[in-house]
Amino acid sequence: MQRENWTSKLGFILAASGSAIGLGNIWRFPFVAGTNGGAIFLLIYLAAIIFIGYPVLVSEMTIGRKTERNPVGAFKKLAPDTPWWLVGGLGVLAGFVILSYYSVVAGWGLFYMLESVTGLAPGTDFAELFVGHISGTFSPIFWHFVFMLLTVSVIGAGVVNGIQRVVKILMPILFVLLVVLIFRSLTLEGAGAGLEFYLSPDFSQISLQTFNDAISQAFFTLSLGMGAMITYGSYLSQDESITDSAGYVLGFDTGIAILSGFAIFPAVFAFGLDPAAGPGLTFITLPAVFSQMPLGAFFGFLFFALLSIAALTSAISLLEVVVAYLVDEFEYPRKKTSYIIGFIIFLVGLPPVLGYSALSDFSFLGMDVLDTYDWIANFILLPTGGMLTAIFIGHYWGTDKAVEEANRNSMKVKVGNVYSLLIKYVAPIAIFVIMALTIFQTVTG
Ligand code: PFF
Ligand code: NA
Repeated sequence: MQRENWTSKLGFILAASGSAIGLGNIWRFPFVAGTNGGAIFLLIYLAAIIFIGYPVLVSEMTIGRKTERNPVGAFKKLAPDTPWWLVGGLGVLAGFVILSYYSVVAGWGLFYMLESVTGLAPGTDFAELFVGHISGTFSPIFWHFVFMLLTVSVIGAGVVNGIQRVVKILMPILFVLLVVLIFRSLTLEGAGAGLEFYLSPDFSQISLQTFNDAISQAFFTLSLGMGAMITYGSYLSQDESITDSAGYVLGFDTGIAILSGFAIFPAVFAFGLDPAAGPGLTFITLPAVFSQMPLGAFFGFLFFALLSIAALTSAISLLEVVVAYLVDEFEYPRKKTSYIIGFIIFLVGLPPVLGYSALSDFSFLGMDVLDTYDWIANFILLPTGGMLTAIFIGHYWGTDKAVEEANRNSMKVKVGNVYSLLIKYVAPIAIFVIMALTIFQTVTG
């Protein structure tokens, strides 16, 4: 079968931005920033995005477009008869792990979408509402299932009819809605303390953890380190520019993350909540905001609908990595494979759901099951994948070839020596040192 291509440059940019923009921006970014002192995290995160995120993003898209293969096939093609394909294999594994818990969180979003319509009365204890929901059994499993079903049906429909059609409509709406929310959040009484937390860095808060969290968040938010951008790049036409497209994707993703912070932190402080509350932050804070605004039920519904949609456009890219691998390498039928893999991922996602009920005794380094999955993916799999990809380009395939492929048809951004330097030395060494120190610190307590 002929491999599909995105039908336009915009189609690719939106699909790749759709993969990038997701729970990572609206859910994970604010709570990770919140536990790391706010503004100081924002600073280090931006540095990580620019100096590590952009070069790795360009590298992954380049590997994909050059080979027109899934991550495993791509490494096999560029480095035949070597173990480099394992880097792609690691990505496929990461796809399983991330999607399984990503879908659980997206399921919370679906639940809140309906809850907003009926139940956001002012004065509600929204922390209690959140804990009540996640520590149930039937409801969170049901919504996790519904979300996986949605993901599978888009991927089953294919690259252009499925992925590209959905993202073109939904991404712009998300942006507009976020702006409305920021306006409400900033006009709440006491919002100023939130702005202060978010924008004036307290350098005494810097620790190894800050760097580790910033680098992992950079990988997660840009969908890097697991071959998603290799896979999406593999559907990019030869006439389009990689460096330009990557610039747009990075700009949109970073913009949405920063905006989410402006929507959330002022509200957190206005309601006297704790910015370091962790994974519940978005789900507790925003319903409180909605309960306090005119037409709150309507806006609440819309917001959580869009959160779910943003999650969906990311989830499809996670599933696409696994499905593209099986379809390309084994010629399995696309639709059937999507459904079977989707169901397996649903099952892998059950422990994180039950981590707040039946499995609530589970603890790994003090984390519940969902946080453990998140930790394995974000502190082990993605940085390792990103580091090996950088080493592959920098020291095996060659940055000269990568630069040539990446710059083809570029009108705005061209990469060169700085890119080569970042990919060869800065990115791999920074990731390695931070990972090694973190492991050392964890082991020695
Ligand atoms: N970038 C997505 C987000 O920020 O929500 C998450 C993600 C999607 C990570 C796809 C990795 C991936 F391959
Ligand atoms: Na993101």
